[in-house]
Amino acid sequence: MTDDRVRIFDTTLRDGEQAPGCSMTLREKLRVARALSELNVDIIEAGFPAASPGDFESVKAIADENFGPVICGLARCNPADIEKVHAAVKGASRHRIHVFVATSQIHREHKLKMAKEEIIKSADGAIRMARELCDDVEFSPEDASRTELGYLAEVVSAAIEAGATTVNIPDTVGYTVPAEFDELFRYLKKHVERIDEITLSVHCHNDLGMAVANSLAAVRAGARQIECTINGIGERAGNCSLEEAVMALRTRAEFFGLETGIDTTRLYPTSRLVSSITGMHPPRNKAIVGENAFAHEAGIHQHGMLQHASTYEIMRPEDVGLSKSNLVLGKHSGRHAFRQRVKDLGFELDEFETNRAFQDFKKLADQKKDVYDGDIEAIIMNVDNASTGPWTLRSLETHTRTDEPASATVVLVNEDGVESSVTASGDGPVAAAFQALEEITGINVVLKHFELHSASVGEDALGEVTVTVEHEGRDYRGNGTSVNIIKAGSRACLEVINRILRRQTRPSPDTDSTANMERATI
Ligand code: KIV
Ligand code: ZN
Repeated sequence: MTDDRVRIFDTTLRDGEQAPGCSMTLREKLRVARALSELNVDIIEAGFPAASPGDFESVKAIADENFGPVICGLARCNPADIEKVHAAVKGASRHRIHVFVATSQIHREHKLKMAKEEIIKSADGAIRMARELCDDVEFSPEDASRTELGYLAEVVSAAIEAGATTVNIPDTVGYTVPAEFDELFRYLKKHVERIDEITLSVHCHNDLGMAVANSLAAVRAGARQIECTINGIGERAGNCSLEEAVMALRTRAEFFGLETGIDTTRLYPTSRLVSSITGMHPPRNKAIVGENAFAHEAGIHQHGMLQHASTYEIMRPEDVGLSKSNLVLGKHSGRHAFRQRVKDLGFELDEFETNRAFQDFKKLADQKKDVYDGDIEAIIMNVDNASTGPWTLRSLETHTRTDEPASATVVLVNEDGVESSVTASGDGPVAAAFQALEEITGINVVLKHFELHSASVGEDALGEVTVTVEHEGRDYRGNGTSVNIIKAGSRACLEVINRILRRQTRPSPDTDSTANMERATI
């Protein structure tokens, strides 16, 4: 199918979530899926259901919410995987089964130990089985860009004969370059007979920094679906970045002559949501959603901008959902102004969430004079985490002195309102506070990663801390915010401890899915 519309297939929750440090809880995945549907992506690849029971449950929960986009799940070419995907996605009124098998010589010989014909047979059987369960079936020849062209054309023909409705061409290891990928797509267009009956798709990894360029080359050569992730998260150097591909198509519409259905004003809020959940913040100079993407520092640029924005600006910040005024509210701002600002930033909060966020905003406004958009976003991102006990942080006091161990006194309150207090020491205030948290809750964690991100500008900006800790052989990630970074870190650690405790009392996929569970690998 070669029309003017490029479908956006978002795989943040599958290929993105697969990246180290990017795993999400069920609740976080649901928030991302809701945001993706507000962004108006065409397809959400919600996960790989056969990878683990937690993955199955989260794909199913997303499908059952029926947010609007097609909900897709990934399967290897075997009946058990395909049945699992079907069982997980069938709750969505529009759903897709995505089957894949590697086709390149390297994968055939070293990974699969299968001959060319066996691979075609396996793909054929899997696609036919998937088609019996679902009208919408996608097939991917993994490592397609390193597969012999003639053989790739044979595989794609066989997939179409078997009933695939979308055929995706992955550059699995980020190896190709735009001109070469253009030739590959043109070759397939020429040599695969019924190729115009299906949607041709592209899936690029970013190992050489060309995922977006390669995806756009494929689109120029006839692909009409781009597989991509928010902020380009994904294995190794990541996947094609959704916001970059979409804004390139839009900004250079006169060149591409193509459109997507994306509501671009949702790009920035969605990017913030994903970075705040995963703790993977895009670099400041990242195109479209980086903090500097619309900042003009050089005097000559500023002068030009004042004369006419188009001198140095090819996109308007508001087109990607960045608000024009950054300085927002202060301690005299009321609920109405706060609610309006939240709306302008692109968030939809219910009454309960608005109240919680407003309380947090008031507390923050007492601590710092100017509350910026970034601070408000950080508050909103954490509204969800705030309500999850059993323990709540009541107070934290730390003492540090050069060349001496630090100490921290932590007071926690449990669900019954009972307070517990411990003073502990450590090499630094974070270590001391974590030690006190462990002693009160009885949960031991080993800190593996502590990442601090400033939500806005100035010394009193809200600090967003993401911690990764290990507990009984599993990794857990937690987030916390505060103007005090030790407190933000303690909140992040307590969020994890609470999750571990909840899991012990009522095991659920919610709490399991961020843990580094035994996952089937691709
Ligand atoms: O990169 C890849 O090849 C994949 C496939 C499973 C589509 O993610
Ligand atoms: Zn991939």
